[in-house]
Amino acid sequence: MRQLCVVGSGYVGLITGACFADMGSNVTFVDIDEGKIEMLQAGEMPIYEPGLAELARRNADAGRMRFTTSYAEGLEHAEFVFVCVGTPSGVDGEADLQYVRAAAQTIAKTMQQPLIIINKSTVPVGTGDWTTEIISSNQPQPIDFAVVSCPEFLREGSAIADFMQPDRTVLGSTSPSAAKKVAELYAPLAAPTVITDLRTAEMIKYASNAFLATRISFINEISIICERLGADVTEVARGMGFDKRIGPHFLQAGVGFGGSCFPKDVKALANMAQTHGMHPQLLNAVMEINAFQRRQITLKTRELLDGSLNGNTVALLGLAFKQDTDDTRESPSLAVARSLLNQGANVKAYDPVAMANASRDVPGIMLCDNPYSAAADSDALLVLTPWNEFKQLDMKRVLCSMNQPNIIDGRNMYNPEELKALGFRYRGVGRGFNGEGTLANGDE
Ligand code: UDX
Repeated sequence: MRQLCVVGSGYVGLITGACFADMGSNVTFVDIDEGKIEMLQAGEMPIYEPGLAELARRNADAGRMRFTTSYAEGLEHAEFVFVCVGTPSGVDGEADLQYVRAAAQTIAKTMQQPLIIINKSTVPVGTGDWTTEIISSNQPQPIDFAVVSCPEFLREGSAIADFMQPDRTVLGSTSPSAAKKVAELYAPLAAPTVITDLRTAEMIKYASNAFLATRISFINEISIICERLGADVTEVARGMGFDKRIGPHFLQAGVGFGGSCFPKDVKALANMAQTHGMHPQLLNAVMEINAFQRRQITLKTRELLDGSLNGNTVALLGLAFKQDTDDTRESPSLAVARSLLNQGANVKAYDPVAMANASRDVPGIMLCDNPYSAAADSDALLVLTPWNEFKQLDMKRVLCSMNQPNIIDGRNMYNPEELKALGFRYRGVGRGFNGEGTLANGDE
């Protein structure tokens, strides 16, 4: 049975550790956050991810998952340690590496036997090299080790399936034998494996996320052109997606990308380029379009409310950055909520799981028990997160309870003709038929 240690029991750490435990490894999770460890020891999950609680319970009951705040305990028998600590955005968008640095120093001081250190946190290109230096220089006596970069490509909401059926495994190391051992660890997943050097592996992660973010900003820019020219972006994306060279994924126009990865990673990659004397024009445009896409929602709401938000009540459906998660980091909904509040609107909202996180981030939002009570007495309804439970709302009931019949379908979830036939004033994203949704340029 393999002995693994996972440092950092956040999103990536918990999924990685729980999935390896499920494949039969013994996994000890180490986190400096005592509260989190106590929660995990009590069988509670600090994050919401479909399937994770059951997976963790099953493997903890089988004795394959343990939680501790002690590195010594975590590393006692470990052959592999996964570093899954946070890398938040620092000033100017560069990744803040204090947690990676601290983890590397403590591992170096604590390790008692040869160890393969696998970095899963998204770190700037070159981090694997300085991690190697930190470990060498902090070891009380030399013990054999190797650093391997193994970026994660997990999507919130489908992370367990993404882990268990990955499109690929990427491994970078200066030690081919260490990379081979990690490849063996991942072998049961039977995915194509790219073994390369440390810096290239680190770059694959950034380039992949930046490319996906670029697709989203691309289709969002097309959506704005569609609105002006009277085309429907949902059909445009469908028509494009059948081309095998393009493919159908990540072409949904909407309120822009959010979450803990895309905004941070695009910014960090742009920052790396800038630091090295380059002008990352495309990456800057991707971020600019994304910010504009959020602003557009407020502009459209203002337009529907005859130019002023002040004193109007706006209902938001969805606060998480996307469906199937309680994560509100960089959530477009929260950016919209802030902007509406700043302009004097009353903001009500409902989200199936993200309300606690949202109210911590934006305390001015009035939280409602269900979509219908959010919509009641509102002057505009904004659907911003594509939760399944919003797909088949009783729209007649919604309409009858509202002050004014305005709806902004920020994720193009509804049939515009049906809503218009019911009596809604409808605005989608990039659905420019009949000139609807056409906006004059303007500021917030
Ligand atoms: C992402 C990457 O997909 C994953 O590989 C990476 O390692 C972590 O970051 P995640 O942040 O969970 O995962 O979300 P994802 O499903 O990729 O969506 C990102 C954002 O883009 C969301 O805000 C989503 O709503 C938005 N999006 C996605 C669109 O606006 N349009 C699309 O077509 C797809």
